[in-house]
Amino acid sequence: MILTVTLNPAIDVTYRVAGLAVGETVRVADVRSRAGGKGVNVAAVVRQLGSESVVLALTGRDEPDEFRAGLDRLGLAHRLVPALPAVRRTVAVVEDDGVTTSLQERGPAVAAGTRDEVVAAFRAELAAGVDAVVVSGSVPPGLGDEVPARLVELCAESGIPVIADVSGAALRAAVPVGAVLLPNRDELAELAGKRLHEPGEIAAAGRRLVRDGAAAVVATLGEEGVLAVTADHEFLVRPVEKVVGNPTGAGDAAAAALARHLARPGLSEVDWPAALADVVATSAAAVLRPVAGEVDLEARAGWLDALAVKETA
Ligand SMILES: Nc1ncnc2c1ncn2[C@@H]1O[C@H](COP(=O)(O)OP(=O)(O)OP(=O)(O)O)[C@@H](O)[C@H]1O
Ligand SMILES: [Mg+2]
Repeated sequence: MILTVTLNPAIDVTYRVAGLAVGETVRVADVRSRAGGKGVNVAAVVRQLGSESVVLALTGRDEPDEFRAGLDRLGLAHRLVPALPAVRRTVAVVEDDGVTTSLQERGPAVAAGTRDEVVAAFRAELAAGVDAVVVSGSVPPGLGDEVPARLVELCAESGIPVIADVSGAALRAAVPVGAVLLPNRDELAELAGKRLHEPGEIAAAGRRLVRDGAAAVVATLGEEGVLAVTADHEFLVRPVEKVVGNPTGAGDAAAAALARHLARPGLSEVDWPAALADVVATSAAAVLRPVAGEVDLEARAGWLDALAVKETA
């Protein structure tokens, strides 16, 4: 069972339009909406890969709860903390030529006391039996950027492997407490306080974080694949091919694949080359799908067979 945590959920709305003209009235040809937030995407991919998942998320206080209904439509098990005045929306406007403009609400502030409710719900899920945890995405205003790190600590106390796919202050706070970190290049650069170009620079930044307490660092480098630093090794894994498609949610697919490998043997026994090949194949297979939270299983299987994992140190 893999538990994913979404502190800043969203309703993801996709508008299809012939063309987007700024300052004009634009007719919407088709509208879809879906429960979103990074942890929701992770849980959906985990399930698609054949493992069980459960979503722990904040949601709106008002009924009917559109976010809950959206999770039910996706068939995802969930434990929800109703603490938000409303669930934010993200709006992706997709033009006929594929150009996409994305509008992202930051989300409303949470009610006082929400932090304690989140921790209590998280403890209850851990007690119910969880093999790995993924804490993903942003933290809503008012909750506290230290909350992801607090959840990581609770996992560490129970010996449960945990991935922190968070950014900014929340990522900084999560470094010393023993999570597997999954930053993209920009998030790692922000943490390192400098731009990172060469694999050597990325590896050095990763080594520093492991020295400071991270269990491992898996840096995702978009179409260049991943560079991972563990306690004893470094690996560079390139995709078999560059994929053209929708890269939104590729990082979430990476988290889903990695969580399944951390779950089986526990952190000390992870087969890193196998895990990283899966991460790269699965995340590239997510780019082929037009929506986040899905992967192309056939492409993933082909790439898994073809991937070469290079140990660099
Ligand atoms: N064009 C691509 N072709 C092949 N693989 C890709 C491509 N884009 C991304 N990937 C794979 O997906 C992984 C995650 O992508 P990226 O580094 O962009 O994550 P991210 O910025 O966290 O994404 P998001 O937060 O939108 O999910 C990469 O490490 C890589 O393995
Ligand atoms: Mg990401």
